Amino acid sequence: MGREKPIPQENQRLNAFVMIVLGLETSCDETAAAVVAREPATGQGRILGEAVLSQVAEHKPFGGIVPEVAARAHLTHLDALVRKAMADAGVGFADLSAVAATGGPGLIGGVMVGVMTAKAIAAVHGVPFLAVNHLEGHALTARLTDKVQFPFLLLLVSGGHCQLLVAEDVNTYRRWGTTVDDAAGEAFDKVAKMLGLGYPGGPAIEAAAKTGNAKRFNFARPMKGKPGCDFSFSGLKTAVRQTAEQLPPGPFQPRDVADLAASFQAAAVESVADRVKRAAERFTNEYPEGRALVVSGGVAANTALRELLQATAAKAGLEFVAPPLKLCTDNAVMIAWAGAERLHKGLVDGMDFKPRPRWPLDPNATPSHGAGVKA
Ligand code: KG4
Ligand code: ZN
Repeated sequence: MGREKPIPQENQRLNAFVMIVLGLETSCDETAAAVVAREPATGQGRILGEAVLSQVAEHKPFGGIVPEVAARAHLTHLDALVRKAMADAGVGFADLSAVAATGGPGLIGGVMVGVMTAKAIAAVHGVPFLAVNHLEGHALTARLTDKVQFPFLLLLVSGGHCQLLVAEDVNTYRRWGTTVDDAAGEAFDKVAKMLGLGYPGGPAIEAAAKTGNAKRFNFARPMKGKPGCDFSFSGLKTAVRQTAEQLPPGPFQPRDVADLAASFQAAAVESVADRVKRAAERFTNEYPEGRALVVSGGVAANTALRELLQATAAKAGLEFVAPPLKLCTDNAVMIAWAGAERLHKGLVDGMDFKPRPRWPLDPNATPSHGAGVKA
């Protein structure tokens, strides 16, 4: 159990006794620090301060994330971001109940930077260190933003992850589905690259798709109708490439790019929605007390996907919860918040914690292998 302290006078935003946790996120291409407060009595949380630096510009010339570049950038910027988040919150290190960092899964160089920084702060200021599973950060965000109660069904769709999970409690998850090859966001990124739309690909595909004809190319909806809740995107990606190769030689015409983007997007989001539909049916059967379908991860920004998921949730009698976009994509608020939820349960970590490139949320889930399978 962490220390509970009053927020200092100068911070006028809260005056109850709360846990205050600093969180660090460095597992991919966002360097971020945030401070959140959690009231132990009510379980309510509040963002006190945050600072984020996106590395998109640093990776853009390479058309994707370069792990070594990411790790160096985290190292360069993290200290200043911690100072900024703390200043924004109006708290000092002595006010912290704990320090949390993403302990994995993710690009190991970056995870090491965050973990070592958090351990150093924890050691110097004599507060507990918390290693947070990045996926648990995504999973628990909806409890901060929308006070979602356990159990809930979670779709996590990002550039590195594509999973369907049941969140039963803090630290207790059941994984019902994962990708057998690429993550959903990875498929958007690869197709965008193929079509010359640049990086990150998701928003570029969505923008191009707006003027495109989604019916021009009839791509099969991967996994649609198949038993289980697993995902697959690599066949769809190949189908887009083969179709693009059959177009007349020379640079792509804008019309072809728009139609390919629209047709790909329709197939990808319908595939995801089909998997979610199956999971929602199973969830309402096995967890009749469950109320919500939560979606998180960068791909949750996609309007077409959101619309389909909203309808899928409604049909299953579930509430559809999507945290605000900046808390759906990688951020440190989710790490600080998951840290606070773990601290409340007494789940602190030792200084001997080792960063974990792979770290499944559900230890009993069958391991899956593939380019985009990080957990
Ligand atoms: O959660 P996130 O910021 O980072 C991780 O991958 O953990 O997700 C980024 C991913 C990228 O693959 C990006 O292309 C995708 O989310 N994405 C989208 C959209 N916006 C971002 N995919 C589809 N449609 C979008 N509007
Ligand atoms: Zn993420």
